Amino acid sequence: MVTEEEQVLSGFAQVFVYIFSYTFLLSVAAAIFVAWFIRDSLKVDDIDTKHVLVTGCDSGFGNLVAKQLDRQGFHVIAACLTESGSSDLRNAASPRLKTVLLNVTDSVSIDRAVEMVRRETVERGLYGLINNAGRSIPIGPTEWLQPEDFRKVMDVNLMGLVEVTLKCLPLLKKAKGRVVNVASILGRLSLVGGGYCLSKWGVEAFSDSLRRDMRHFGIKVSIIEPGFFKTNVTRLDLIEADLQRLWDHLPDDVRDTYGHKYLEEYLKAQRFSMNILCSSDISKVTSCMQHALTARHPRTRYSAGWDAKLFWIPLSYLPAFVGDFFINVMLPPPKQC
Ligand SMILES: *[C@@H]1O[C@H](CO)[C@@H](O)[C@H](O)[C@H]1NC(C)=O
Ligand SMILES: *[C@@H]1O[C@H](CO)[C@@H](O)[C@H](O)[C@H]1NC(C)=O
Repeated sequence: MVTEEEQVLSGFAQVFVYIFSYTFLLSVAAAIFVAWFIRDSLKVDDIDTKHVLVTGCDSGFGNLVAKQLDRQGFHVIAACLTESGSSDLRNAASPRLKTVLLNVTDSVSIDRAVEMVRRETVERGLYGLINNAGRSIPIGPTEWLQPEDFRKVMDVNLMGLVEVTLKCLPLLKKAKGRVVNVASILGRLSLVGGGYCLSKWGVEAFSDSLRRDMRHFGIKVSIIEPGFFKTNVTRLDLIEADLQRLWDHLPDDVRDTYGHKYLEEYLKAQRFSMNILCSSDISKVTSCMQHALTARHPRTRYSAGWDAKLFWIPLSYLPAFVGDFFINVMLPPPKQC
């Protein structure tokens, strides 16, 4: 016989067990989060003894991160494509910052730059390499592009990055250093035709192999995946001028399959999306680069920007038809479809 009093008591006991187990689980989750947060905020020491080579410092992310690392006390070697880019940067930084001319598609230029880094770093080795140099143009509908249009972008973003990294590895090993590779959310999702997405998927794959192969030597590798930011890579006037060039070179019968209004509609749609998407706060990207260099435990992947974190990266885990749907909504269909 169970009395009414006993039933009430066992009801209380159940409520108590529920509350206790939920509180326990929440505390475990909170403890894990706090432990992760503390681990993530531990910093390395002796920044003023460390050398960092950054590529693509003429403008954009590379230019800003070079100045920020310089201010933090790193010995920055800023590689620029142009003489004007490098003299502007020297004027904006401390005398500690050195610049070097580097064209990452030219092996002789890479050899010269690495030799300069070797002289600067002497017995310490190279602590950090930020592979940031990149270009996006030619970019657009796949059918409009020639093989050399793909190659132009792949040569800079992928083969250039691979060659610079391989040639720096002996110096990085000496310092048990770090490699920070700038990929993109377009290294997760192919949203547009041309060499850009291909090159960024390649950067993701190269970085994964590099991380696994070099961890035994104490080298850490991080990948930065920015969303859309206002830099030369997303500059609409340059992209649009090149799309006009591609359009003008299309054979008449191919252009007819798109319809004579197509380029105009494509540019309008692209302008609309880019205006919504592009953030001008590029420090969101450079602070990921800084974390990758200064944290005792750098992360494997950093996504930068709200669009990357909340939209593009989650989208990259969903089935392909979901991404296809968004692209279809964003871009106009050719006339014959
Ligand atoms: C960015 O674009 C401007 C305008 O075309 C150009 O002058 C500058 O050299 C570009 N920067 C780089 C690093 O290519
Ligand atoms: C970079 O090097 C390549 C290959 O040598 C060359 O074709 C290209 O014109 C160079 N770019 C610049 C901006 O010097």
